[in-house]
Order: sequence, then structure tokens, then C-alpha cells
Amino acid sequence: MRKKLKFGGRKVEPDVRMLYDMEEVVYDKDWLKGAENVPLYFMYRDLYKQGDEKRIKERGLRYDITVIPPKMLGKEYVKTKGHFHETAKNMTYPELYGVLEGSAHYLLQKGRGEEAERTVLVKAEKGDKVIIPPGYGHITINPTSEKLKMANWVFRNFDSVYGPIVEKGGAAWFETDEGFKRNDNYSKVPELEVFKASENDQFEGEIYSLIEDPGKLDFLSSPEQNKKVFEDLEFF
Ligand SMILES: [Fe+2]
Repeated sequence: MRKKLKFGGRKVEPDVRMLYDMEEVVYDKDWLKGAENVPLYFMYRDLYKQGDEKRIKERGLRYDITVIPPKMLGKEYVKTKGHFHETAKNMTYPELYGVLEGSAHYLLQKGRGEEAERTVLVKAEKGDKVIIPPGYGHITINPTSEKLKMANWVFRNFDSVYGPIVEKGGAAWFETDEGFKRNDNYSKVPELEVFKASENDQFEGEIYSLIEDPGKLDFLSSPEQNKKVFEDLEFF
């Protein structure tokens, strides 16, 4: 199951997220009791094509691909574990996603304490791009019966912060075969605001090619100097 990915002439091994790495954040605990510890998704990190490594690293960037095969976790659609990002000056680092195959639901939430202050779902199809703006934790859901393959650009020098979502037993919402269910471990969860990714499209082409014009990725390393990128998002 540790399938290598060929990228830029190299074969890359994934980091594998196993079901038991996710047990705190799975909705269907009855199903989990009897479930085997299977691989859920595959993260191919720090990819580059020949000749690009230097300029990617000089800009402090990292390009990754994540593959999430379809699966039901009992009643819930397969998803990533979910995290927040560390803070750059006054804002947390943002992230840029591009869907390469399949469809994704990006669940964004503001507030990493008792209350979820705001919850946003961005629906994305192949070719769509989604910016995770500063201040939002995020999880990715594959709500389909097809494989989801997605790419991301992100600033390479911060750690992801998993604690707040793990402590709450997941993000503020769970996407299940009976629709979205509120996570009652939060004292307050506002209505889920739903958007389509195409309405937020600020970039053309597949996101790897942005390294040809790397100034367009400066918002990832210096969000406070590039606020316009986020202000232009319909949902921000
Ligand atoms: Fe992230």
C-alpha cells in the first residue's frame, strides 16, 4: 500500500496516515471499535522537478501531493486529521491547494478554543484552487467514491498544530452519509457556510507551475505583506 509517486524523475515514498493515528477525530466510534488499522492517505512531501529545488527552497516553500482514496469511516467520509498552522508575526501561515484528480471538500474553521467562531466549506473539483487563509484550521474530506489527489504549496518552516482539533475530537463538523453533523465537543458551532472553489480562483493553471512566477507565492511566506490575496477571497 506504500505506493511510490513518480515526480520530477524521482520515485518518492509517502508518509502514510493510518486509521489509528486518527482515532480521536473519527465520528463513528462504534465502527472504530471493530476497525483494523488500515492506511487512509498518503503524503508525498517536498517534491520538485529538476532545476527547481534551489528556487523553491530559497523562497522557503514546499510543494506536496496528498492522495486520499475513497473510504467510509463507518458513517463518515474519509478525511485528513486536520490542523492549524503556526503564526507568522500576527497571522498564521496560509496554504494553497490545487485539486489534481477527483473532488474535495475543504472544511475551514476559525477559533481553536472552546468555540468554533466560523465554519466554511469550500467544494472543489479537479483544476480548482483553494486558499486556506490566515487564522483558519483546515481538514480535507473526500466525499466521493473516486480517488482524490491534491497538491499544496506552503511555507516550509513551520510546524502544523494538531492539538486543538484532536482535543475536540475532530473539526467542528463531520461529513457523514446522513449529511453534516455538528461536533458537540465545541460549546458553539455556527452554521456551515458553503462556497464553490471556482468563485475563489485567483490563479491559472496547475499550481506547481506557479514556481515559474514565484512572486505569486510570496503570500505563503509573508502573509502580513500580502493581505490583498486574502481580502479578494469571497468567504474571507
Ligand atoms: Fe495545512
